[in-house]
Amino acid sequence: MEKHMLALQLSHILGEPYSREWVYEQLELPKKESFGDLAFPCFPLAKEFKKNPKLIADELAEKLKHPHITKAESAGGYVNVFLDQSFFTEETLKEVLANDRDYGSHNFGAEKTVVLDMSSPNIAKPFSMGHLRSTIIGNAISNLAEKCGFETVKVNYIGDYGTQFGKLVAAYHRWGDDDAIQADPLTELTRIYVKFHEEAKTDPTLIDEGRTCFKKLEDADPEVLELWRWFKDVSLQEFDRIYDLLGVTFDLTRGEAYYNDKMEGVIKRIAGAGLLEESDGAQVVRLDEQELPPCLIRKSNGTTTYATRDLAAAIDRYESFHFAESLYLVGHEQTLHFQQVKYVLDKMDLPWANDMHHVPFGMILKDGKKMSTRAGKTVLLEQVLQEAIDRARENIADKNPDLKNQEQVARQVGVGSVIFHDLKHDRTHDVEFSLDDMLSFEGNTGPYVQYTHVRTKSLLKKAGYEKEDAEVKLVDEKAWPLIKLVRAFPKVVKESYEQYDPSRIAKYLLDVSRSFNHYYAHNQILDSDQEAGRLTLIYSVNLILQNGLEILGIEAPDQM
Ligand code: ARG
Repeated sequence: MEKHMLALQLSHILGEPYSREWVYEQLELPKKESFGDLAFPCFPLAKEFKKNPKLIADELAEKLKHPHITKAESAGGYVNVFLDQSFFTEETLKEVLANDRDYGSHNFGAEKTVVLDMSSPNIAKPFSMGHLRSTIIGNAISNLAEKCGFETVKVNYIGDYGTQFGKLVAAYHRWGDDDAIQADPLTELTRIYVKFHEEAKTDPTLIDEGRTCFKKLEDADPEVLELWRWFKDVSLQEFDRIYDLLGVTFDLTRGEAYYNDKMEGVIKRIAGAGLLEESDGAQVVRLDEQELPPCLIRKSNGTTTYATRDLAAAIDRYESFHFAESLYLVGHEQTLHFQQVKYVLDKMDLPWANDMHHVPFGMILKDGKKMSTRAGKTVLLEQVLQEAIDRARENIADKNPDLKNQEQVARQVGVGSVIFHDLKHDRTHDVEFSLDDMLSFEGNTGPYVQYTHVRTKSLLKKAGYEKEDAEVKLVDEKAWPLIKLVRAFPKVVKESYEQYDPSRIAKYLLDVSRSFNHYYAHNQILDSDQEAGRLTLIYSVNLILQNGLEILGIEAPDQM
């Protein structure tokens, strides 16, 4: 807002060809608070104006006059601009009070739908760190989309099909133990699956058995089908426990197998578009112009592929939801796959293929190496969450033993710390896993933000603050940095969504928390002569921390 206002003023003074948009792009945040609120660098103008930047800045500062600008200074080739703090404070706080829990919302997504393919673990295998990231990041992006007015459809595209299930059934026939599977399905199914691969090295008949079982699954053989359903049910129950802990829900849980009877139709459509080619007995779509390897549609043994199922799923999602955007929250390692899928649809002349976006992310590392879920090396996710909750519980017993609902708060803080730790990192980067880092109350952690929220809440409670008696005026100059942050919230929401980047919200919440704690440490709030105004500011901070944590999918306890 103020940036547009300033850009307009400066572009008027500069005249053609310096448009408002151009000036806007140049504007910077000053390095220090004492340099004001916005800075315009004059260096790019020096050549054209044949003057040194300092002189240009002198002249611009002299000419810049606006009722909401209190001062413009020339310094080191910049024009440093100071905004009218009273005016902007009042405007900001009014805006917060008027919108309350909707503060930071937008409506540019109204009447549009975003589909998110997220979580999508594979049955009969442990829920990996990658699936955790997909779940948490997807959930946050979905919340951001809703804040921007979109309808969202969260789809859990379970990996429940493919030749590996033939192998699993064969392994079950040899070594399956029903009780063990019932007791701990993912561990037991993984164990026999791994055993299958080991034994197959010396016993080639196993591979044939696997193939036969897969063929039976494809032909809907009742015995194999029932086993497969059982594996699926017990796996989903395990996954549900994790989703419950994380507080994540889905609008649709639909696995790959759902698309089996849609394969032939899709292949026909691809062939009808003249795209299907033979290659060594397999059928492929060539993507030479895109400089990509061909997309495998049907293998030489007649089976369809992961890509074929994703093509069917994409078409189905478009036909069901007419999405404005269809997002795939899947790790970097599948980038090629999603490029192929998108280009095949594009070659089929489906214009919405352009609205499909792979939203990749990095890995979670342990001591610099990928955290593996393969047998032996597994750090099972549930254990991680449980450990985080245990530590949070110990912390409470230590620091606040009289707290009510300790179990609930321990869960909120423990799980919140894991989610925040993931989301504060730029999603494209790898993240080093560390429980100590996650759970610290100091530093850049979830508990720190939750704790700051608790502080604001208890201040408001102590004061008996009522929104109705709110005062909206500049309390003092020291509150200005915090006001500016409060003011930025709607913009941060919009940009985080547009960049599919929840880390912007996480970092912003840390900034707000730090700024608030600094302000609180240096200013008396209750019983000061500024109490009413300061409380309105605290109310705004409270609201933002609550809204922001909610976007990230983290609960905000009232006490901790
Ligand atoms: N189940 C897959 C895996 O774990 C991820 C699925 C991602 N979504 C998709 N539409 N392909 O690797």
